[in-house]
Amino acid sequence: MSLKPQIDNSRIPQHIAIIMDGNGRWAQEQGQDRLFGHFHGVQSVRDIVEGCAELGVRYLTLYAFSTENWDRPQKEVTGLMELLVETIRKEVPILNQNNIRMHFIGELSLMPPSAQQALQEARDLTAGNSGLNLIMALSYSSRWELMDAVKRIATDVESGILSPQQISQDILQQYLSTSEFPDPELMIRTSGEYRISNFLLYQLAYAELYFTQTRWPDFRKENLYEAIIDFQKRDRRFGKVKV
Ligand code: IPE
Ligand code: IPE
Ligand code: MG
Repeated sequence: MSLKPQIDNSRIPQHIAIIMDGNGRWAQEQGQDRLFGHFHGVQSVRDIVEGCAELGVRYLTLYAFSTENWDRPQKEVTGLMELLVETIRKEVPILNQNNIRMHFIGELSLMPPSAQQALQEARDLTAGNSGLNLIMALSYSSRWELMDAVKRIATDVESGILSPQQISQDILQQYLSTSEFPDPELMIRTSGEYRISNFLLYQLAYAELYFTQTRWPDFRKENLYEAIIDFQKRDRRFGKVKV
């Protein structure tokens, strides 16, 4: 029986962030190459994007490739980039049918030109959509993002656009790659690792964290519902005392 009816539709998290982990182990457990796991992970992405759109989630951020992942074996990196380009190209018409808008965060200039082009096309072709915002974190790390923000703030101070006294949390937020999006309320990590791995360190300040043993290629809508139901049981205090 589906868990969906147990979800309180009036309290759906507006922004869910997911560390999609465990593709390599999932494949190795079946005696397959790591890329086989990444390939199967795409079906989970489709299912979860659809699930979030159906529930009315406004923002979904997926951690697909980290700055540190560039140091994996060349064969895996190349395979992942090819899979990314192919998947994005194939999915754009479906995203449009479902009114989903794509965004990308990360140091995209490090991506191969063909990938950069595919990202640009996906962004442009879905720019008019007003439903779910699907944010892919690619070549992303939070420390890179914060360093980049500090650099651009310093440049603007130097050129007189900004004074140090003006710098507030709101201003800092405007220099992050996530400036257009509210902070995630729920962060899910699959595959049984209990860490953040350089993902949205600033933005996750008050997110509820949910960890599951399920490997990403096995993660489906029902697993998402389970996470949301768990989230809805949490008492979010934000440092205050309930009166
Ligand atoms: C997550 O799965 C996908 C990426 C990091 C690209 P992994 O490739 O990290 O899989 P495990 O953690 O080695 O099982
Ligand atoms: C985090 O997973 C990055 C992505 C899911 C894209 P990793 O597998 O790279 O992280 P660690 O090495 O377990 O910390
Ligand atoms: Mg991993």
